[in-house]
Amino acid sequence: MEIRELPLPAAEMKPKYTDESQLGFGRIFTDRMLLVEWKAGQGWVDGRIQKYGPFSMDPAALVLHYAQEIFEGLKAYKWADGSIVLFRPEMNARRFNHSAERLCMPTIPEEDFVAGIEQLVRLEKEWIPSAEGTSLYIRPAMIAVEPVIGVKPSDHYYFYVILSPVGAYYSQGFKPTKIMVEDKYVRATPGGTGEAKTGGNYANSLKAGLEAKKKGFDQVLWLDGVERRYIEEVGAMNMFFAYGDTIVTAPLEGTILNGITRDSVLTLAKKLGLKIEERRIDVNDLFKDIRDGKITEAFGSGTAAVVTPVGLLGYRGETATVADGGVGKITQTLYDTLTGIQTGKIPDTFGWIRK
Ligand code: COI
Repeated sequence: MEIRELPLPAAEMKPKYTDESQLGFGRIFTDRMLLVEWKAGQGWVDGRIQKYGPFSMDPAALVLHYAQEIFEGLKAYKWADGSIVLFRPEMNARRFNHSAERLCMPTIPEEDFVAGIEQLVRLEKEWIPSAEGTSLYIRPAMIAVEPVIGVKPSDHYYFYVILSPVGAYYSQGFKPTKIMVEDKYVRATPGGTGEAKTGGNYANSLKAGLEAKKKGFDQVLWLDGVERRYIEEVGAMNMFFAYGDTIVTAPLEGTILNGITRDSVLTLAKKLGLKIEERRIDVNDLFKDIRDGKITEAFGSGTAAVVTPVGLLGYRGETATVADGGVGKITQTLYDTLTGIQTGKIPDTFGWIRK
């Protein structure tokens, strides 16, 4: 797929951030974006890298009414030796196409997905921060732009990629979070879209998130939508619990996101000699095991969240502190090892880094 680079005069470029410690998450965007269109009967056409900015669409565009939309999240890093690297981008390409199939959208050849991102990141490399805990967050998305009020798959799509220099996802940084197990609202049910990375899943999560915030929690942990009993995921993270040297996480059964960081954490944990169990976790057992001291650590994983410690869980008005509520040894080691590989401080023996 050919991507044209439209000229961008220096006078139209934005001033760059000056303090990498103040980046926050996802509020600053670079000078350029990638945009490719898909049209029925033509396929992928008119790929271009153009000035970052609003694009026009008809008020009847299907995405605005029926949420036919998917997205991804991955990161680029600038190493001390000047190399620019991506972390497992082919996994994002694969998951993007999986989401596309679920939402009746066109798939994109994996090599074109990755090559387009590489071309954009190369042009925008001056925007990649390098301070500890920072990176360039890459957000590919696809939206349905055919103007029609009838409910149907669109015949016209925009695939686009925007870039944002970021610090930590949670404003407190690498500190223990407070997570509330949600027993009123449901994120996903079998046969639904839980496994797809589609905006509707996140829109659906807002109400529960706000109510949890009011109660002093950072985010909610979803239970399965059928029995409301088994632990699923946290929206921006997959969840892990350490029972001594055994790491337990929910299995991928179609309702939770197949996290790329989840997969990386499981691989690293095995390499570190930890035991892995992918199994259903009953919320009542979970709280009992935390109170009995059997659960020694809890953490989440995600591209944005990296590895985030969880110090306290709430459920039906009660709370339980995990161990001493601080950052556990396994959590710290996994964070250090993963970010070490991503930033070039630890050699990548897994083939995860793409220079
Ligand atoms: C990511 O971790 O990249 C995500 O897409 C989660 C998002 C809610 C920030």
